[in-house]
Amino acid sequence: MGMVPSPACGGGLGRGPARPSNGSHPTIFCMSALSWHFPPSLVEAELLNLLPALSTDAARGLRHLREAMRYGTLGGGKLTRPQLLLEAAFAVGGANFDPRKALGAACALELIHSYSLIHDDLPAMDDAQTRRGQPCCHIVWGEATAILAGDALQTLAFEAVTHCETDAATVLKVVRLIAQAAGEAGMAGGQAIDLDWTRDGGSRAISPAQLTQLHALKTGALIRVAAHAGAVLGGGNGSQIEALRCYGENLGRAFQLWDDVLDVIGDPQITGKASSDAQNDKMSAPVVFGLENAQRLAREASETAVAALQEFGNEAQTLRNLARFVVERNK
Ligand code: IPE
Ligand code: IPE
Ligand code: MG
Ligand code: MG
Ligand code: MG
Repeated sequence: MGMVPSPACGGGLGRGPARPSNGSHPTIFCMSALSWHFPPSLVEAELLNLLPALSTDAARGLRHLREAMRYGTLGGGKLTRPQLLLEAAFAVGGANFDPRKALGAACALELIHSYSLIHDDLPAMDDAQTRRGQPCCHIVWGEATAILAGDALQTLAFEAVTHCETDAATVLKVVRLIAQAAGEAGMAGGQAIDLDWTRDGGSRAISPAQLTQLHALKTGALIRVAAHAGAVLGGGNGSQIEALRCYGENLGRAFQLWDDVLDVIGDPQITGKASSDAQNDKMSAPVVFGLENAQRLAREASETAVAALQEFGNEAQTLRNLARFVVERNK
């Protein structure tokens, strides 16, 4: 099994090699231990505003669709992507940054992420039973409703971006960035590759570089765009936007590597989902790199993410801590 070097950031400003961890930071196991500049309750409240209300007079099918959308979104996710977007905006916008400029886009990422999980769990994809400690959306509401809930969450996401209280040109830019990250050039494309390899029943040899590309698409793109769009919405200059894009790219890599690691060493009671990669013959990081190397590569990607923030001061400290959390988390 070969190793791929910890990737430099695509697109070019050289930012130097990953720094080894000096162990000087505290271990962070839970998201709430991070000092967010905008509390997750802000995102939760806006998601509640965006999601359709439950009215008893609607047709039964519509009521089920609405309930499934809420079930798949409000079920206790970590809110990593919206919190990351807001924190990136803060890093460039400073203490006076008004989160209303970015909240719609932050929620859009959680809506798209939730849709991706609902579809990921379907029998035609990973065939999962539990998500966030609860039965998967399709188990509760049926497959057809779960598919439609994902569809409706994706369109709601783009409506949400238009709620960003900022100029129309910036909103347009962010719509384009998020669309590219969610579609065939990003998450959906990565899922297609993942499933194609899965259907080979583990018989195909996947190279480390191929797995890295898969991770960059299926999970990395939405995490990268959270940092990138946050920097745009915060009014960052070219260098700041590029630094945060690079941070997001490496954070996304670390995130999926650690997700694959947790599938092997995680406690389902804590992760809220059963281990399934081995059973599904997934080309996961522990399979391609080996478990210990996968953990090492995740930590290296986390440190590369931190290194991308060198031009920032204390205003990016929560982003640095988030990168460390991602490879220490147990859920
Ligand atoms: C899990 O994502 C699926 C991946 C893309 C790796 P998260 O770990 O962010 O899931 P929640 O939203 O916190 O449940
Ligand atoms: C999911 O990757 C990536 C998505 C785009 C949803 P996984 O299939 O490994 O995510 P989990 O482990 O089911 O959360
Ligand atoms: Mg999957
Ligand atoms: Mg899955
Ligand atoms: Mg997984």
